[in-house]
Amino acid sequence: MENINLTTEPWEDYELLDSGDNRKLERYGSAILIRPETQAIWRRKQPDLWSKAVAEFIWSDGKGAWHKKDRIAEKWALKWRDVSFSVRLTSFKHTGLFPEQAPNWEWIDKSIRTKDKPNVLNLFGYTGLASIVAAKAGATVTHLDASRQSNSWAKENAIASDVTKGIRYILDDAMKFVKREGRRGVSYDGVILDPPAFGRGPKGEVWRIEEDLPKLMDDLKVIFSHKPGSFLLLNGYAAGYTPLSFEQLIDSCFGSSTGEFGELRLKETDSSRSISEGIYVRLVRN
Ligand SMILES: C[S@@+](CC[C@H](N)C(=O)[O-])C[C@H]1O[C@@H](n2cnc3c(N)ncnc32)[C@H](O)[C@@H]1O
Repeated sequence: MENINLTTEPWEDYELLDSGDNRKLERYGSAILIRPETQAIWRRKQPDLWSKAVAEFIWSDGKGAWHKKDRIAEKWALKWRDVSFSVRLTSFKHTGLFPEQAPNWEWIDKSIRTKDKPNVLNLFGYTGLASIVAAKAGATVTHLDASRQSNSWAKENAIASDVTKGIRYILDDAMKFVKREGRRGVSYDGVILDPPAFGRGPKGEVWRIEEDLPKLMDDLKVIFSHKPGSFLLLNGYAAGYTPLSFEQLIDSCFGSSTGEFGELRLKETDSSRSISEGIYVRLVRN
């Protein structure tokens, strides 16, 4: 596999304006937000710009909360190409958007357009932007998440993106669902997963990436189609793994494959700097 780092450039509705002192300054449409960023150990480049922020997420005594300077909408609409979605100030500093996923959305779109209605599974799907991209490209999508709130947010985003069919939403534990699909003999031509370091299924099933990801990969082998061109995309966040670790996990489960692996980086506007936000591995069946 090739080691290629993917960098997300600013787009009309999103940009990383500045970063430093363990924080980042981002523009989401017309709203500028400040969020903690453990990677940003360097100094800020444009300190004056930060006073424009309307809200900041601050951790104190192990608890985190948004501090709003001005009145701010409960949610507001953004776009990435023809994908429409809403962002919100949620607990745990998330906004409903992982902007560094943009190069993966492009790849998902390209990977699907060359196929005839592929069957695609999106595990840990969160607000469903990858599911929308896949459905718009012509796939039949199974979107799974353990959170009812995430699934309803994903459905809202799909409707906002004029995707009214082609996605089924599953509220379940990822491990349980994949095992069940294996017993049912179901096969997927595309698998997308973005597991957290720690999570819980709808019935409290505990997900620990260090123990469960290798097991999930073994179960995915049963339902991952052998058709040439079938693709698997694994993302990783905040779990402390390097891209090489994920590449060797995939290699140990699926054998040496065609594909890429590397970092997911977010580029700062008008600067050569970027933040390494996550890691990814992409496998394509020969
Ligand atoms: C980091 S988010 C995924 C981000 C998403 N892929 C994106 O790019 O927008 C992790 C998601 O995993 C879900 N989750 C956590 N534990 C789970 C489990 N055991 N089974 C299924 N989903 C789980 C959470 O509800 C959350 O929506």
